[in-house]
Amino acid sequence: MSLGKHLLGTEGLGAEEITLILDTAERMAEISARPLKKVPALRAKLVVNLFFENSTRTRSSFEIAEKRLSADTLNFSASTSSVQKGETLVDTVLNLERMMPDCYVMRHSSPGAHQLILPFTKASVVNAGDGAHEHPTQALLDAFTIRQKKGGFKGLEVLICGDIAHSRVVRSNIHLLKTMGAKVTLCSPATLMPPHMDSLGVKVLHDFDEALAGKDVVMMLRMQLERQQKGLFPSLREYYQTYGLTEERLKRASSDVIVMHPGPINRGVEIASEVADGPYSVILDQVENGVSVRMAVLYLLLGGGEDEASH
Ligand code: CP
Repeated sequence: MSLGKHLLGTEGLGAEEITLILDTAERMAEISARPLKKVPALRAKLVVNLFFENSTRTRSSFEIAEKRLSADTLNFSASTSSVQKGETLVDTVLNLERMMPDCYVMRHSSPGAHQLILPFTKASVVNAGDGAHEHPTQALLDAFTIRQKKGGFKGLEVLICGDIAHSRVVRSNIHLLKTMGAKVTLCSPATLMPPHMDSLGVKVLHDFDEALAGKDVVMMLRMQLERQQKGLFPSLREYYQTYGLTEERLKRASSDVIVMHPGPINRGVEIASEVADGPYSVILDQVENGVSVRMAVLYLLLGGGEDEASH
């Protein structure tokens, strides 16, 4: 079983591939728990972190993952590069290609931007987020956290609530969670729910209190004001009143619910501070698990194998 050359999305990943990544991530977590958190697995491999959009968690954890596996890293930020002088994405890649990278970890605001660069590179390409399309390593670290806390996915009731329309996290999570046997419900105001989401095999609700009832996992999504047109909801205060996850509302969920959020969180918009920092929250565990999952993805794409990982 191998992962292939690229990771562009969770759509198309099978249960065996997902399980391989999660199992490998567990071994990577063991490395991170050692006093010397470094192995030579990707020595002499060059990974270019190619970020055309801002990031805290994804970019930091990829860089840490690369360093823990002893890869060489090049951090490219569009805001300090010749992209500012008008250089195109493809020209940027054509130039970086002559520096012989083994992998690009790329975030871009355009859905499908990764497909555009594939003909121009011999390297592996990992999608670190493309517009509102996919964010596969986020869904994988979410899955790792769910498996860690709940033991598995079969029959698990998962609610994803918030700005569904502008979220790449939700698309990657729907594909992955459905593949692993979880039951997924989406909830948002009608203006933040794209049409035909139910065709993806999920339940769509607009009443948050109804949607929360009995859920095992509640994943809140960030209100992405930077991607929105005006007028999708009356005000942030009214959004919070109807769709904000408060301690009182959370009582409707299962008694051992976990609360997730990909970050960055908008306190007092989609989630109350008491919930984000409270006993049911696994939000910072998600961040910690991001390093292990990204180590696993890089390791499996760039030369590691299932057998080696078990050592
Ligand atoms: N979850 C996530 O992608 O966070 P960043 O935008 O900070 O990377």
